[in-house]
Amino acid sequence: RRIVAVVPAAGVGSRMQADKPKQYLQIQGKTILEHSLNVLLTHPANIEQIILAVAPNDPYLKDFSFLNHPTICVIHGGKTRADSVLNGLKHIQPDKNTWVLVHDAARPCLTHTDIDKLFAIQDPNGAILATPAIDTIKRATENQQIQQTEDRNHIWLAQTPQFFPLDLLRDALQTALQQGLAVTDEASAMELAGFQPHLVSGRTDNIKVTRPQDLALAAFYLSQQNN
Ligand code: C5P
Repeated sequence: RRIVAVVPAAGVGSRMQADKPKQYLQIQGKTILEHSLNVLLTHPANIEQIILAVAPNDPYLKDFSFLNHPTICVIHGGKTRADSVLNGLKHIQPDKNTWVLVHDAARPCLTHTDIDKLFAIQDPNGAILATPAIDTIKRATENQQIQQTEDRNHIWLAQTPQFFPLDLLRDALQTALQQGLAVTDEASAMELAGFQPHLVSGRTDNIKVTRPQDLALAAFYLSQQNN
């Protein structure tokens, strides 16, 4: 099968409270975006192309070291993460044998082993990295009272990469967006289309850098990998 990656990097990262979008903050001398792309670029499976979705008029992109990399194709993202991913999918030549690996720009601590675990799954509906819930999970009412406790044995926290056949994912995202449904990851669009993608047990270190304190945490996890 042919593998293409899509990296949504068109968010503003408001929860980080920084002067630039979080993917352009530096850890160990490289931006978060560069760390994330590097894991994909150096993976031995030979990811054919990486479609990078950035905000239109992104002022930080011009200093970006991978701008002229032959594998990377920069496109414009959309209003939501799902719009950005769908824009990316539209840039890929449709072909029954093509699978798409979608990975958040904001997850720099991904490893090749994580990607290998996803690639090893033989599920025609695709698979995502996720971790089993550790804490007890409460469902809340509108005024922040506990409505009920979920059975945490059945709760997983979704990460990226998420890996699907191109044609199934494109149709699923298009339908979900047309119906105005909230899709915060690719798997949720696939679920709405009636598929049950596989959960692959990942590592809690594969964090999405979101809040200010996540920067130090990501730096620590990356330093552990280099040892
Ligand atoms: O907002 P959230 O943390 O879920 O964003 C996950 C990823 O999606 C980030 O890498 C962000 O840059 C990207 N994104 C995007 N287009 C948007 C919103 C978010 O590509 N409109």
